[in-house]
Amino acid sequence: MTATVDQDVEEVPSGGKVPLVELKNVGKMYGNITALKDISLRVHAGEVTGILGDNGAGKSTLIKIIAGYHPPSEGELLVDGQPARLASPKDALAKGIATVYQNLAVVPLMPVWRNFFLGQEIRKKSFPFSLDSNAMRATTLTELSKMGIDLPDVDVPIGSLSGGQRQCVAIARAVFFGARVLILDEPTAALGVKQSGVVLKYISAAKEAGFGVVFITHNPHHAHLVGDHFVLLNRGRQKLDCKYDDITLEHLTQEMAGGDELEALSHELRGKGA
Ligand SMILES: Nc1ncnc2c1ncn2[C@@H]1O[C@H](COP(=O)(O)OP(=O)(O)OP(=O)(O)O)[C@@H](O)[C@H]1O
Ligand SMILES: [Mg+2]
Repeated sequence: MTATVDQDVEEVPSGGKVPLVELKNVGKMYGNITALKDISLRVHAGEVTGILGDNGAGKSTLIKIIAGYHPPSEGELLVDGQPARLASPKDALAKGIATVYQNLAVVPLMPVWRNFFLGQEIRKKSFPFSLDSNAMRATTLTELSKMGIDLPDVDVPIGSLSGGQRQCVAIARAVFFGARVLILDEPTAALGVKQSGVVLKYISAAKEAGFGVVFITHNPHHAHLVGDHFVLLNRGRQKLDCKYDDITLEHLTQEMAGGDELEALSHELRGKGA
């Protein structure tokens, strides 16, 4: 399944194409707590948008708005250039926006293929009460191998796969069921270097296939490896918004680490340690 990438376009200042998703001056209040204020960003097809920020910066709140969990308290959300009200995650999915959460909703003891089709099983045409397990096995194998995940056996319980592989299966599943925009919530946070590499390669493949990827991470190295565009949140504000060519990894890391705050901390610690 491929994303609809090309669209006839009205005049859009950057990129020349209508973004798949756009936020304009979005804000979110929880009671009197301002979780987000004045956020504007665009998610384009064939691009990875890295959303970075420390704990409490507003990353989850931002993805909940794009994923249809919360309406924004202010500002506008556009899908394919049209103002959209997403009433629920299901509504978002119907528009091609899928979210893969870090603690994936999988049933560890069930085979990979059962998890792939969980809640959307294929049934036999002649016996609608029976599951078409052969079709589901074959499709799972094909869909995984399309994106370079070679599992010798899709009958193994999903719980026996590595964290990285499980993330990849969840992403492949979202793609198969019609996602054009993939929101990945810290997919590498709990993974070691090698497994993170597996997921980052997969993110890169999804981008090459034309998906709009929103990659949430604490890790500027990971963001810089696959990101085309970076948005850094700090206490609910958009602190940085730039393209890959406009920022070095060092600068991104420094911004992420709090720049001046880190330097002050370093002076303090060195001073004490001396
Ligand atoms: N349901 C809620 N009710 C009240 N306040 C909330 C709620 N959800 C988040 N917040 C507050 O909004 C702010 C942003 O939280 P959010 O969870 O979006 O941050 P985050 O960047 O995802 O953090 P983390 O890296 O810890 O997951 C925080 O101050 C948080 O306490
Ligand atoms: Mg969060």
